[in-house]
Amino acid sequence: MSKQREEVQAVVWRENQLCLLDQRVLPGREVYLEYTAVAAVAEAIGDMVVRGAPAIGITAAYGVVLAARARYAQSAVEWQTLIEADLQTLASSRPTAVNLFWAIGHMRELIATLQGDPEPALLAAAKKIHTDDIAACRRMGELGAALIERPCNILTHCNAGALATGGYGTALGVVRAGFAAGKIRHVYADETRPWMQGARLTAWEMVQENIPVTLQTEGAAAYLMKQGKIDWVIVGSDRIAANGDVANKIGTYGLAVLARHHGVKFMVVAPTSTVDMNIVRGEDIPIEQRSPEEVLFLAGQPIAAAGAAAWNPAFDVTPAALVDAIVTERGVLLAPDAGKMVAMMENA
Ligand code: MRU
Repeated sequence: MSKQREEVQAVVWRENQLCLLDQRVLPGREVYLEYTAVAAVAEAIGDMVVRGAPAIGITAAYGVVLAARARYAQSAVEWQTLIEADLQTLASSRPTAVNLFWAIGHMRELIATLQGDPEPALLAAAKKIHTDDIAACRRMGELGAALIERPCNILTHCNAGALATGGYGTALGVVRAGFAAGKIRHVYADETRPWMQGARLTAWEMVQENIPVTLQTEGAAAYLMKQGKIDWVIVGSDRIAANGDVANKIGTYGLAVLARHHGVKFMVVAPTSTVDMNIVRGEDIPIEQRSPEEVLFLAGQPIAAAGAAAWNPAFDVTPAALVDAIVTERGVLLAPDAGKMVAMMENA
């Protein structure tokens, strides 16, 4: 058997700077880009150098550290006021993953309490957000795997793995734990147009760890389920509303409808930093619209008839009624609803 490699790290703090694995060029090249300025960090989030809700939040927290360093050097008296513009820049990088706003909010609260050089305290807070996320992923991995009763095949969408988190992954954390426990035999991964997170990132993570993975186009999912090849759909989330509705990569809602039709179970795995109790229902979650060019071009080459328009929502919303289980680090909600969500979030 080939050697199993350590899980990859998407976000690394090294030698006083932020290093991001450039996910746009994976799996062909493994390149870490270095950041010392907050504006470039915000750009990296918008441009998909780093992506995946928890990883975006962690990156933003380190971005705040870089911002504080620069603002404190600019004015040791006014830095707490000046940094607000940087927090706004980070917050405008992507709209759907609430982990971004959660992490910025957490850092903002700390900023208000600081005196003297802010960097040590802010860096410690960012590192804690990072390590807490890895711990949450490991816990969710155990909880999610425990829901799977017998060795089975799963289908996942996009990439909710080590690359999308502090490490280990949400949906792919369940896959890692489930595979180690002999409960998952095979992973089917949607290629996930237009950024191909399934083909480029999920398949790459699985191959590194010798977990059997088969790719298919999104359009093949229905036929795969019809043939009885899938027992669970397991996905991550970018934002979960107070009623249990779930925003995730465009195409997730379609999978949930298909899963219900074919009697396949549907599991959403996300830390509580992805839960937004201020959003009452899924329809109110802001959905990112990305450039039509991402659909009209593939790897820099035009693929559509000249003159065609393209619609490119990055996420959709799956109603709670189609979700069999939401797994967070605080526990499992079967058939999630507003009451169960409140009970879980109050149980800190
Ligand atoms: O556009 P992306 O690649 O940032 O979208 C990512 C997803 O939709 C993931 O499923 C989600 O963020 C959960 S990651 C643990």
